[in-house]
Amino acid sequence: MSQFSVSSSLDLPSGYILKDLTSFPPKERQSIVTKVTRIEKKTFPSSELFDFNSELKKKNTSMVLAMKSDSSGELVGYLVYLRTNRLVLLHKICVIEQEREKGIGKCLVHSLQQHLEKGGCYSIQLWVDEARNPARKLYQSCGFQQIDRCLDYYGAGRTGLKMQLSNEK
Ligand SMILES: CC(C)(COP(=O)(O)OP(=O)(O)OC[C@H]1O[C@@H](n2cnc3c(N)ncnc32)[C@H](O)[C@@H]1OP(=O)(O)O)[C@@H](O)C(=O)NCCC(=O)NCCS
Repeated sequence: MSQFSVSSSLDLPSGYILKDLTSFPPKERQSIVTKVTRIEKKTFPSSELFDFNSELKKKNTSMVLAMKSDSSGELVGYLVYLRTNRLVLLHKICVIEQEREKGIGKCLVHSLQQHLEKGGCYSIQLWVDEARNPARKLYQSCGFQQIDRCLDYYGAGRTGLKMQLSNEK
């Protein structure tokens, strides 16, 4: 299965670029994953931490990175997804606090939407904590529709919403 290539036609704010982790030489990937893990730990409770080291070894799991395009190359966000033949599961998306609400999250999701437009997959699905308002706004703004709601999905009292973006006619 081909790796995801990030198009330059995305409407990214100037000064940022998106890159697939696999576009980096193998030697650089581990230090990027270490930086991602640091952001992950700062952002999410321990029960929701993604194990990048093991998950990214899985054949169909990939990561898109948002970085500053200047010489600092600072990592500002990431999106992890799993691709099956007809479906993309959006596992994780995060933009560092000081770079939020600039359109970076939306561009990361749009990079996945390109999959749909190219015709390989019919749908992107995800689960989101009902209480995560910025994330819900992002997904709504990208056209996702709620298709399920599950009480206690993330633990006692934390409802999960299943959302889908589909291009199936
Ligand atoms: C969710 C998250 C990735 C959004 O990233 P972002 O780069 O700030 O999002 P964008 O700037 O692209 O905004 C996309 C849309 O969501 C809206 N939005 C984003 N954050 C918002 C907020 N705090 N309040 C209200 N609306 C918000 C924007 O206004 C925009 O709407 P528009 O397209 O109608 O203008 C970011 O807030 C984040 O990393 N949160 C912590 C991690 C998380 O909750 N991840 C999701 C679960 S895995």
